[in-house]
Amino acid sequence: MPLEKNAENNTILKSEFVLPEHAGGEGWTMLHGDAIQIAQNFVPGVFDAVITDPPYASGGATPSEKNRTTNQKYSSMDKDKALPDFAGDQKDQRSWTRWMAGWLWDVKKACRPGASVVLFIDWRQLPSITDALQWAGWIWRGVAVWDKITSRPQKGRYRQQAEFIIWGSNGPMPADRSVGCLPGVFRATNPVNRIHVTEKPLQVMRDVVKICAPGGRILDPFAGAGTTVLAGVLEGYEAVGIEVTDDYYQRSVERIRREMAEQE
Ligand SMILES: C[S@@+](CC[C@H](N)C(=O)[O-])C[C@H]1O[C@@H](n2cnc3c(N)ncnc32)[C@H](O)[C@@H]1O
Repeated sequence: MPLEKNAENNTILKSEFVLPEHAGGEGWTMLHGDAIQIAQNFVPGVFDAVITDPPYASGGATPSEKNRTTNQKYSSMDKDKALPDFAGDQKDQRSWTRWMAGWLWDVKKACRPGASVVLFIDWRQLPSITDALQWAGWIWRGVAVWDKITSRPQKGRYRQQAEFIIWGSNGPMPADRSVGCLPGVFRATNPVNRIHVTEKPLQVMRDVVKICAPGGRILDPFAGAGTTVLAGVLEGYEAVGIEVTDDYYQRSVERIRREMAEQE
C-alpha cells in the first residue's frame, strides 16, 4: 500500500521521520528525496531485496569527460528531443565508491537477513562497485549480464555491448528459498520512446526482480523512471522507489499510475 502521512499506515519509515513528498497505489510507493537521507530512516528489516541502477558516475576516461551532463554522456538524442538530466553522476571514482558504500550500508540495515542485492553498472565501475558492496557488509555472489544486443561498432576493439548486474545477499542466502533457477544473461535492446536518459528495459527488470522471494518487498533507491518499481508490482511484489530529480520523480509516478491503470 502507498505510504500515508500518518504513523499507523507508515510501516517502513521511522515514525519520527517527516515523510517526504510521496505517491503510490496498490503495492507501490515512490518517495521524492535523497536516498542517502531516506535510507537512514527506514525501520530495520523491512525489505526483502534492494534492486537498483545507481548513477554510474562514468561515461569517460578523464575528469572533464566524466563531468559532462548525463545527456552528453549517455544519450545520442538530438538536443531538441533530449530528456532531463539527472542528479548524482559527477563524482570522481573514489568519492563515488565511498558514496556507494555509505548508502549500501544503510539499506542493508533496512533489509531482512538473506535479502538480495542487485546493482546495475558498466564496465568502468565494475571493480569499484564490488568493493563498495563488500565494504558495506553484503556478500558478493556473482555478476550477471544485460546484453544490449546493439551497440556502436568500434574498429579494432570489442563492442561495449553489455552492462553488468552485480548481485549478492545480506548474509547467507538459503538455497531452499521459493525462487527458481534464474538466467545469468538478460537480452534486450534499450527501450524505444524512453522517458529517462538511462532507462532500463521493463522486461529485463521483470526478469531480474524474480531474485526476490515471492510476495517480498523491493527497494529501488535510485528509481529514475520507476522501471524497477513497475516491474516489481507487475511481478506480484511490493515495491518502493526513491528518486531525487524532480522531473523523474513526476515521470515515474505518472508512468506507474498509467501502466497500472492499463492493467485494470
Ligand atoms: C541510472 S538512473 C536510474 C534509471 C532507472 N533504472 C530507470 O529505468 O528509469 C539513476 C537515478 O538516480 C537518481 N538519483 C541520483 N542521486 C540520487 C539520490 N541521492 N537519491 C535519490 N535518487 C538519486 C537520478 O536522478 C537518476 O534518475
